[in-house]
Amino acid sequence: MSKSQMIQTDVGSALSVDEIAEIDAELAHVPYKSGAAIDALKIVQAKRGWVSDESLRGIAKHLDMSAEELEGIATFYNLIYRRPVGEKVILFCDSVSCWISGCDDIKSKISKLLGVDYGETTKDNLYTLLPVPCLGACDRAPVMMVGDDLVTHLDDKKIKELFGKVKTKSTSSSKAGPKSEGSQ
Ligand code: FES
Repeated sequence: MSKSQMIQTDVGSALSVDEIAEIDAELAHVPYKSGAAIDALKIVQAKRGWVSDESLRGIAKHLDMSAEELEGIATFYNLIYRRPVGEKVILFCDSVSCWISGCDDIKSKISKLLGVDYGETTKDNLYTLLPVPCLGACDRAPVMMVGDDLVTHLDDKKIKELFGKVKTKSTSSSKAGPKSEGSQ
């Protein structure tokens, strides 16, 4: 993103021209500016991969909200990443149907193959592993999302096919997830 594409706000944060245009398009559909908060967070995350404190302040300013109010929404909505994530986020369901179907064992094997635990990103920055509540595919448990793809009926064969060739067995210290930068 070039500097010419950025608009500096008076709180020292920045949103791009494109981000502002997309957020403004959402504002046309809501009665109050704060009603576009989640969409605005998603717009910025889609372009930057995550929502930094600086971006969050910029969005809050644009929506006439306090940063604290927007932070509360971002924290509640667990698909907003407040720390950097890898190229693909693995959203691993650990809710009851998946747990009954043996997700703990599958998760341990994924962690071993990738060298990461929940909240961590592989050394090559390819994958971030995060737990999520029910993905709505309980009849096909255990399940996970890898990027935009839902992977169902997880078993040893499937996870080896997906991750067996990934050479990232040393754990990265970088953490990801819904918490803010300041909480690391
Ligand atoms: S419990 Fe895992 S998809 Fe519902």
